[in-house]
Amino acid sequence: MGRFIVEGGFSLKGEVKINGSKNAALAIIPATILSNGPCLLKNLPNISDVKLSFEILTKMGAKIKKQDEHTVLIDNTTINCNEVPFELAMKMRASYYYLGALLTRFKEANVAMPGGCNFGVRPINLHLKGFKMLGANYEIDAGIIHLKAKELVGGKIYFDVVSVGATINILLAAVKAKGVTIIENAAKEPHIVDLANFLNSMGANIIGAGTNVIKIKGVESLNSSSYTIIPDQIEAGSYMAMAAVTRGEILIRDVTLKHLESILNKMETIGVKIKKYDSSVFVSCNCELNKADVTSQAYPGFPTDMQPQITAVLTFAKGTSIITEGIWANRFQYVGELCRMGALITVDGKVAVVEGKQTLKAAPVTACDLRAGAALVIAALGAQGKSEIENVSYIERGYENIVGKLKDLGAVIEKV
Ligand code: EPZ
Repeated sequence: MGRFIVEGGFSLKGEVKINGSKNAALAIIPATILSNGPCLLKNLPNISDVKLSFEILTKMGAKIKKQDEHTVLIDNTTINCNEVPFELAMKMRASYYYLGALLTRFKEANVAMPGGCNFGVRPINLHLKGFKMLGANYEIDAGIIHLKAKELVGGKIYFDVVSVGATINILLAAVKAKGVTIIENAAKEPHIVDLANFLNSMGANIIGAGTNVIKIKGVESLNSSSYTIIPDQIEAGSYMAMAAVTRGEILIRDVTLKHLESILNKMETIGVKIKKYDSSVFVSCNCELNKADVTSQAYPGFPTDMQPQITAVLTFAKGTSIITEGIWANRFQYVGELCRMGALITVDGKVAVVEGKQTLKAAPVTACDLRAGAALVIAALGAQGKSEIENVSYIERGYENIVGKLKDLGAVIEKV
């Protein structure tokens, strides 16, 4: 799984280029299954979850040509199977997007139940409710979801919980269904809008993405498209957190400022100075960090995928901060690892209370998931001494070349 050795105490200075959004890529790559010709995807992040997506498509018969590290031509016209291999589907929760894409392409889909992450059970009842509403039947047998439909007919679906995955899956299943589909209480994340824009660039008829009501008018066919993925707002926020704990200054390039509003707002409360440009933001911090209260919620609220990272920052702040996890049942598993570095955090269910401290002490720690791993890197950069971080393959699922980017910013970090 690999380890990072990080020596803390060095102020990060310089600039970092933000890559394409992991969660937009993981939805748009399966969507290419719906095209009647090859699709060119640009600004894809070069991360293991994207490589796994290519492995899944290739196994299904697709032809994939890498033009460069971030640009890929995907020809899915040769796909001849409606199932995702079990051993691959189990590696990544987002493999369930193939349910919606394969249902539209073949009127049948067979995909393994998604592996849970360790921040609680991750149900898919809303996805299945949406598929049923469109006319599909399903059964779950030996951990595989078997989905079938004679015909997909649009209708109205109301999600009682805002779900990114369910919204994406129903977009994929409704885009060529007969008639009109309305999704109410839809998720509004930037990657939902990016998927809708990609599908519309192929000839789909989707309006309202980014609001809580999305209307999809089924079309006959979807064509080849060349599309550039949006920047990853979580990667950008993670580098802001690193600037804060190291009292550094970083120009964070190639971002979409609109997607960063809630993160920038919280960073300013903590005492990070922000200068905004067209597609970049300069963050600097040369003072003590202030405490802040954070509640993670659906977009445009503060993103749950930045909750571990902001908690790591607040362990260095003056005063007591309250962090409330508004989305996941159990997303504070990583706190134990921060406490091994001397952080003073108590967790009660969905609430963590952080007693800020001047500094943390390096320690051997273990990443338990992608964003928790990022939080450990942030804490190690701000701590005194050399920390060892285990299970860094979690981190590499969502952060392209994190060691190289951090070294360019003056961090002392090695992968062993
Ligand atoms: C996506 O997960 C992201 N993953 C997660 O990011 C992110 O934390 C999450 O959205 C929230 O923003 C990808 O995009 C690949 P949800 P997803 O469905 O779609 C409940 C990362 O680090 N729910 O929006 O699985 C669920 O339990 C990952 O990149 C149901 O009850 O999240 C949760 O409480 C970690 N029934 C809430 O909705 C369902 O059928 C939000 O989940 C589906 C979800």
